[in-house]
Amino acid sequence: MAHHPIIEAFQRAGQAQVFAFFDRLAPDAQQRLLAEAAEVDLAEVERLYRSLVAKSDGAAGVNLAGLAPAPYEKRPEHGGDAADWARAKAAGEAALRAGRVAAFTVAGGQGTRLGYDGPKGTFPVTPLRQKPLFQVFAEKIRAAGVRYGRPLPWFIMTSHANHAATEAFFAANAHFGLDRARVHFFRQGRMPAVDFNGQIMLETPGSLALSPDGHGGSLRALDRSGALDLMKREGIDTLSYFQVDNPLVRCIDPAFIGWHVLRGSEMTSKMVPKAYAEEKVGHFCMQDGKSVVVEYSDLPMAMQRETDAGGGLRYIAGSIAIHVLDREFVRRMAAGAEGAALPFHRADKKIPTVDAAGGAVKPAKANGVKFEMFVFDALPFARNPVIIETLRADDFSPVKNAEGLDSPQTCRDDQLRQFARWLTANGAAVATDPSGRPAVTVEVSPLFGYDEDSFADAWKNLPVKPAVTDGLYLA
Ligand code: UTP
Repeated sequence: MAHHPIIEAFQRAGQAQVFAFFDRLAPDAQQRLLAEAAEVDLAEVERLYRSLVAKSDGAAGVNLAGLAPAPYEKRPEHGGDAADWARAKAAGEAALRAGRVAAFTVAGGQGTRLGYDGPKGTFPVTPLRQKPLFQVFAEKIRAAGVRYGRPLPWFIMTSHANHAATEAFFAANAHFGLDRARVHFFRQGRMPAVDFNGQIMLETPGSLALSPDGHGGSLRALDRSGALDLMKREGIDTLSYFQVDNPLVRCIDPAFIGWHVLRGSEMTSKMVPKAYAEEKVGHFCMQDGKSVVVEYSDLPMAMQRETDAGGGLRYIAGSIAIHVLDREFVRRMAAGAEGAALPFHRADKKIPTVDAAGGAVKPAKANGVKFEMFVFDALPFARNPVIIETLRADDFSPVKNAEGLDSPQTCRDDQLRQFARWLTANGAAVATDPSGRPAVTVEVSPLFGYDEDSFADAWKNLPVKPAVTDGLYLA
């Protein structure tokens, strides 16, 4: 086999199989494989294999000792202090007017469940105009910039697989009216998959089985890409984090930002009360005086179902992957200083690979392990973390699956319900079914109104209020 320092490092690490077909590859393919191999931190892979695969029986073995439900700030209508919420909102508005806030979307996922060909952000979601997810966020961010008199920068994390397609999509759509100089794309890192013996897997004879390192990889990627430095230069210290699959999200939410600012928090998160005991969401908990998120798969069913004295669910606080992050906190996490590093999780997957002869293998069952980091694992490292309640109907309806729960259909219905609520609250006559879904298909452009307040203002300013009939588009 060829002599090369990278190949020799892999041989020493017991990973020579990565170069099994090297001599057969054309020179440019050899260079590509070497470049991929150079991305791999062999010591990290070895450590992850030993700690997560070799000495584990598959059960994650999460430590549940001393676990208790996490406290959270209740919404005023659920007993929270209305004056506190008003102060938070004012503080958030001030931060927005001062230009301290940037939007941040993680869009590097593979979107396998949806089974859509293309970056997930390009998937059409709105009921009438079929606007893609990216356009919905772009218009909300644009409208918030106008409302607060300071255009917001937007950071978008992509993956190796979808970076070029994502940038091209924005370019082809004139960045949806945003100043292109304020839209920043950067790629997240990737991790190699290993088989159950710890051998790094090939996807083809000339390429590694690499996949994105999880949404938690966003913390490293923000740092490495220079995004944090850019924020610092522009006086931005607050990142509003959301996922690419949830068009309902209030991506610029003054009260949320304000709780974060007023409490001197490094990480602030939104919770919704779980819809039912077994809902598949992470649970906000406390452990050893720290806030943590415990995945549903790690929380015994008995605890998921546990009730309190009032008969309500004890572990009620579900995580919906919406956070506000402090810039310097992200930097500290990325640097791994003071032991503040995100752990990796293992996921057993069917990983397309090659056999000993280099032929393609499409496995029928899990044949290897991927390693991913989760952003919510940063919570226990944050100073003064805050968890606030939000209303699911105003913040969370993700498109995860092609059909059924969390699908384009449920998301469309939830958008329609939201439009109907805004219209009704402002005096329009809207016929709905008992679930609040309007009988007609209407759509509100975020440029008209992107939350209760902005909608109410825009509606008030309409000289003639339109009738709510099928096809109404408010823009
Ligand atoms: P999901 O957990 O829904 O994963 O990501 P996914 O890869 O998009 O979809 P499936 O599981 O393959 O069907 C939640 C959010 O985190 C982002 C996704 O783009 C989405 O916004 N994400 C996930 C990343 O940015 N990088 C990752 O490595 C994983």
